Amino acid sequence: MKIAISGKGGVGKSTVAGTLARLYAADGRQVLAVDADPDANLASALGLPSSLRSQIRTICTERKLIEERTGAKVRQFGQMFKINPEVSDIAGKYAVHYKGVDLLVLGAVEHAAGGCACPESVLLKSLVSHLVLHRGDVVILDMEAGIEHLGRGTAMGVDLMMAVVEPGQRSVETAERVRRMSANLGIGRFGVVLNKTADPEEDSRWIASEFGLEHLLGTIPLDARIARADRQGVALADLGYPELLDPFRSLQKTLQSFCTEKESVL
Ligand SMILES: Nc1ncnc2c1ncn2[C@@H]1O[C@H](COP(=O)(O)OP(=O)(O)O)[C@@H](O)[C@H]1O
Ligand SMILES: [Mg+2]
Repeated sequence: MKIAISGKGGVGKSTVAGTLARLYAADGRQVLAVDADPDANLASALGLPSSLRSQIRTICTERKLIEERTGAKVRQFGQMFKINPEVSDIAGKYAVHYKGVDLLVLGAVEHAAGGCACPESVLLKSLVSHLVLHRGDVVILDMEAGIEHLGRGTAMGVDLMMAVVEPGQRSVETAERVRRMSANLGIGRFGVVLNKTADPEEDSRWIASEFGLEHLLGTIPLDARIARADRQGVALADLGYPELLDPFRSLQKTLQSFCTEKESVL
């Protein structure tokens, strides 16, 4: 299952991505979690201890790797470079392993505004595309709100674009934009997770009216313990309140049936 998670900053993308990754790993699945948000914080949502976090090598800043694979110098303009660089060994070499999850951090392409075809972005695009198309079992992409830099190759491999929203118009607008972008890229399925709700019934009704009930994949209540886990740099799975994971487990179940159901229809 290949899931891309997107949405406005601060809505809980990394919380959802990290918690799902840990739950799938606990179920014995092979999980690759990819932090594709320039504002990278998936490592902390996964609960990586600082000793492991310091071992993370952000792909985007691995100048030697980028130059070797693309055949071009970083930060030089007007060069020819390979548009299909070799990327199949990168996850194996650069992912950090923690509690059954492989974590790969992509980092931010600093001068990528306007969809530049610089060596870094070419490498990242090829890498993500390779991961969603060829990597086995579960791949979870923690993304920023803008997904236009995702190539069609990547989009074809993603089973589901999941937008996280909180009970507020702005995050809903971002999710609408994500939905349109996903459709334009050819991602077949779109769903919404409502997070941080203090009134699940009322807010779910609202979100269902905005996106259609069939697109509401899960609801996660506002809970001070979730915010505390972030402050402490602890994964929800390690916090010691198993019931806190219940909404994430139901989301997992819904995802399973959502993906298989729609697959047979498509
Ligand atoms: N259901 C929730 N209840 C309370 N706080 C939450 C909840 N979900 C996320 N948070 C908190 O909101 C903040 C932003 O979450 P995060 O997952 O980092 O968002 P994003 O990755 O979308 O920027 C974090 O401090 C996190 O602990
Ligand atoms: Mg995040």
